[in-house]
Amino acid sequence: MKRIVLAAIVCALAVVSVIPCKAESLAASRMKPQVKVSRVHQVQEEKTKPDPWWQHAVIYEIYPRSFADAKNTGMGNLKGITSKLDYLKDLGVDAIWITPCYPSPQVDFGYDISDYQNIAPEYGTLADFDELVAEAKKRKIGIIMDLVMNHTSDKHPWFVVSKSSLNNPKRDWYIWRDGKTTTSSTKLQPPNNWQSVFGHSAWKYDPDTKQFYYHFFYPEQPDLNWRNKVVREAMYNVARFWLDRGAVGFRLDAITTLFEDPKLKDNPVLPGKNAYGDPNMQHKNNDRLVEVHDVLRELRRVTDSYPGERVLVGECAGKDIVELSCMYGKNADEVQLPMNFFFADINKLSAPLFRKEIGRWDTNPACGWPVYLFSNHDQVRHYIRYGNGKDNDRIAKLMATLLLTLRGTPILYYGEEIGMENNDPKSIEEVQDPIGKIGWPKEKGRDGERTPMQWTADANAGFSEVKPWLPVAASYKQYNVAVEEKDPSSILNYYKQLIKVRRENHALLHGEYVALNETDSNVLSYLRKSKNGSVIVALNMSGKPVKVRFDLKARGLSGRHTKVLLGNYPNVGESVDLTNVTLPPYGALVGEVKM
Ligand code: GLC
Repeated sequence: MKRIVLAAIVCALAVVSVIPCKAESLAASRMKPQVKVSRVHQVQEEKTKPDPWWQHAVIYEIYPRSFADAKNTGMGNLKGITSKLDYLKDLGVDAIWITPCYPSPQVDFGYDISDYQNIAPEYGTLADFDELVAEAKKRKIGIIMDLVMNHTSDKHPWFVVSKSSLNNPKRDWYIWRDGKTTTSSTKLQPPNNWQSVFGHSAWKYDPDTKQFYYHFFYPEQPDLNWRNKVVREAMYNVARFWLDRGAVGFRLDAITTLFEDPKLKDNPVLPGKNAYGDPNMQHKNNDRLVEVHDVLRELRRVTDSYPGERVLVGECAGKDIVELSCMYGKNADEVQLPMNFFFADINKLSAPLFRKEIGRWDTNPACGWPVYLFSNHDQVRHYIRYGNGKDNDRIAKLMATLLLTLRGTPILYYGEEIGMENNDPKSIEEVQDPIGKIGWPKEKGRDGERTPMQWTADANAGFSEVKPWLPVAASYKQYNVAVEEKDPSSILNYYKQLIKVRRENHALLHGEYVALNETDSNVLSYLRKSKNGSVIVALNMSGKPVKVRFDLKARGLSGRHTKVLLGNYPNVGESVDLTNVTLPPYGALVGEVKM
């Protein structure tokens, strides 16, 4: 209890404390060196207002091209998603985040949008979307749309007009600049040294108007000019369009990259080369500029003007916890769930590494509500990242236990609940994702983590009768929904039980996170402590049996035993003496403890 009060005081102090915001330190001349970060999250039990729904939701990411194909085209579609809503409901999902399903030339598989207010014909129609929203609502599942604000497709009518002449009214909607001349070459050089994160210069020359345009990602994804207020308003109208149609929120794509230094200062070059053969570079002058906070506040005012606590989930990659904390906003008025990649960047099973990341995120300076994920459409699936080749299923369950028992909102990636693995291309000819073509063989692209959902043991994993757009992973005969639904010990059934336990347990939803046995290098353990009972979680991240002893008296709990809620040691309902626990290799224990 003492710790609960202390945490509340720490969060309350944050209202008046001054926390440096690195995001704001990048635009040196235009910034205040420090900002005040206010109290965002107060310990749950001390609040009188009910928690917003998204704090206790399980969010499930769907890559629409690969999830379910109701039309037998070899590609997923919205009707396919609708047909699987009962499956998602049964799993325990509260909201689905659908990666872009708008009309697009599909250079970056939807992240290059040519019409923000429609559905790509290959995925369906607006009527299909309305049906999806209505059917999902019946099952209490919300739809989170992906909002790509940094760039459009080069085929978007806005860019087509912008490119058409130097003086058209939309020229300033994108970042157009003159090239540089040098004495050593007659060829015009790009305005500065900025590189695209997808390889090579971030500038593309347009011979018709003799200027360069800027693209942080592919040349087919020109960056919008967010200093132009008309651009902002156009994008907020896009948000209104989907909110009006029933979206419960947005996942904000690459949100930190909206602004660039107007003087286009060169970026610092770092030692070494990247997978594309370019010199490494710090994106000092074209990422995390202070102005992004104005936009986030404006957008939040738009979402807040709708009923039902609409949510903003941000793609806010960044190593620095202070920087990430700033994304909540000075007055908790920006992103509610800033996705970080702390877990996704951990590539080995290590109790100390996970303990450190959880600790710093759980006590983030903004006291913001944490969000956790292991995998997504840009990351190698964690079944492979943490698997050792022989205990993969056990490890998958161990990691699911971690994700679903932490204080915070978990985001699952489709297929992780059945133990899907990556199926990376074997040769450059097989690659679909352009970064795999540009960076082959060092960078194989992201096809491997985007393969079709494995529904059955039939051909093409039951995804479609025709050849799917990407080959299914070889593991599909054993790892698929139909087979796993029938097997009580499957990964799928473990996820279902975990989500159920989480949903029904007060401490798992509301309890404080208290790290235990912090010097243990094998077992990650913690309490979820609440006034109405607590839960202990112990996760053996090593391949050997480990003895552990918990002294909960020091944590204000008198109980010496725990009643098992879930895990693989021992059986559910059994009582375990916490002063003498032996966890099997990769063993997980989740149990209730008395006050
Ligand atoms: C985000 C998306 C990624 C996409 C990029 C450009 O990082 O997750 O898939 O390629 O933005 O839109």
